[in-house]
Amino acid sequence: MKDRKLYDLAEDIRKCTSCPLSRGRTLAVPGEGKIDSGILIVGEAPGAEEDRLGQPFVGRAGKLLNELLETAGIDRSDVFITNCVKCRPPKNRNPNTLELKTCKKWLDSQIALLKPKLIIILGRVALKNLTGKEKIKDLHGKVSEFDGQKYFVTYHPSAGLRFKWIKEVLFEDAKNLKKILAHLKNK
Ligand code: URA
Repeated sequence: MKDRKLYDLAEDIRKCTSCPLSRGRTLAVPGEGKIDSGILIVGEAPGAEEDRLGQPFVGRAGKLLNELLETAGIDRSDVFITNCVKCRPPKNRNPNTLELKTCKKWLDSQIALLKPKLIIILGRVALKNLTGKEKIKDLHGKVSEFDGQKYFVTYHPSAGLRFKWIKEVLFEDAKNLKKILAHLKNK
């Protein structure tokens, strides 16, 4: 039932024309993964490879994400991965306020269906979009709770590809996440 609803939602997302990003896309990227793991990963927006294949995090940032997940002891196929906006912004620019606002209905519906125990936020765009908070440096590497939802915040893997210090922080955060998940499992 839940599978069916998520599948239908993905179909609706693929047909969405609610904002101008839909006009530039090859494929929308609804997200993919396991429904019942209790973990949802939220990035920013699809890039070129994601737009071509219709899957999240399959380009360079995705490769780093895979390494981070391995460090955190997470099997990628065990979690659900999506983005704040489901269509690629031109030239990979950040999604603007209107695009984020328009696309939020899809992410909200996914969260309502998945009911994740923990949402892993990748980067400041997703942080702001989901929690209204802006200061990633104060929040990364630990669990925070806002409005009854638990979040683990970390930097965006693309930032880790650009800056060595962020890559190091990302791996430190991933190690923390591993401990946190072990603790949550035993609860
Ligand atoms: N960056 C994102 O935020 N999401 C993707 O799917 C790929 C790169």
